Amino acid sequence: MKHHDVIIIGAGAAGLMCAATAGYRGRDVLVLDNAKQAGRKILISGGGRCNFTNQKVEPANFICSNHHFVKSALARYRSSDFIELVERHGIEYHERDHGQLFCNDSAKEIVTMLLTECEWAGAQIKLRTEISEITKNSEGLFEVLTDKEHYSCQSLVIATGGLSMPKLGASPYGYHIAEQFGLKVLSTHAGLVPFTWHSEQKQRFEPLSGIAVPSTITAKDGTQFSEALLFTHRGLSGPTILQISNYWNPGEAISINLLPGEDVRAKIQQALEASPKQSLRNALSQWLPKRLVEVLFDESLLNKALNQLVHAEREQLALDLESWTLVMNGTEGYRTAEVTLGGIDTDELSSKTMEAKSVPGLFFAGEVMDVSGWLGGFNFQWAWSSGVAAGQAA
Ligand code: FDA
Repeated sequence: MKHHDVIIIGAGAAGLMCAATAGYRGRDVLVLDNAKQAGRKILISGGGRCNFTNQKVEPANFICSNHHFVKSALARYRSSDFIELVERHGIEYHERDHGQLFCNDSAKEIVTMLLTECEWAGAQIKLRTEISEITKNSEGLFEVLTDKEHYSCQSLVIATGGLSMPKLGASPYGYHIAEQFGLKVLSTHAGLVPFTWHSEQKQRFEPLSGIAVPSTITAKDGTQFSEALLFTHRGLSGPTILQISNYWNPGEAISINLLPGEDVRAKIQQALEASPKQSLRNALSQWLPKRLVEVLFDESLLNKALNQLVHAEREQLALDLESWTLVMNGTEGYRTAEVTLGGIDTDELSSKTMEAKSVPGLFFAGEVMDVSGWLGGFNFQWAWSSGVAAGQAA
């Protein structure tokens, strides 16, 4: 049996960050992954340019049953620390809306950077390795049986990620290990994911596929996001939908403001005063794509001149524009989701070290636990911060 101080299961964002951190502390580190490539999600992230963090990261950007859990790790390894690492490796990057940071060239640079850090820290990585069993022996060491070797280690870090994108090797393995050691796993569902139409909605709205408009969307719990809304063949997508999907439960309505930041009633009144004989169709087509206007409102209403609209019609129009309420069929699920909501209950873990309170030596890092971030680089920041926290203690 080969012994290592630390074995990390999962060579993704959190696992690699953890490996380099533990390695620099002088720990003998081995990373095991069943994939043929390390950091596959990093490679496809951010449209191939990896939105690796955000300029402004706050605990409020994360969803976790225990709101305080993320504070310690995020405060000890900040986005500025990761930016400094990226700069030290000479990776050029740029900022997009809402403080999102992307590589100028390719997400590959982030994977290369992490692998280089692991190499410099002396951490070994073994890919294409199937883990068949993990146990804790009478001496308190973990034994990891794989299809190739039998290992033992003092500290075991589970960094196997969530369930999103099974095509990329996502698996529930981390949850199984947590349960095997008696830890609670909170129910999971797809997050940062497009919504799908009911069949009757599909018939009506499918022709709008490809249209994008600015929007503010509000979930049932009052959470709001203002970004682009995109109509697709299957339903609704775009940044604002992905964001709100993290706060949505099946059957709940969402409310869409199609003229965000505008006083809709005043806008209608101004249009009425400026050109009273103008048709509602023409007025609305100056504010929204014509195809959307035709699908949202009745032909007979659109044909009316603005000065023919009675007060109740103007009021209904304002409501339809500022709080268009939709009950969507569901989401596209893990197939296209960027993250998994839920996972290992953080009440089971130390927020400083990510170690299981009831199982000394067993650590978790990254998305496998019940921490999910907003769209905008927050999920990677959690992988970096939690990976460092575990790597400093494992
Ligand atoms: P990650 O999934 O990265 O790694 C888990 C590793 O464990 C994988 O290498 C996997 O092969 C391995 N593994 C799983 N089961 C195993 C088993 N049984 N045995 C051995 N190994 C096993 N976030 C962000 O902040 N900015 C962005 O731009 C994007 N973009 C984005 C695009 C897409 C398409 C997706 C799907 C996701 C994103 N994300 C993102 C989210 C981000 O990718 C995600 O939160 C992190 O990769 C999570 O890092 P982890 O290390 O926890 O898991």
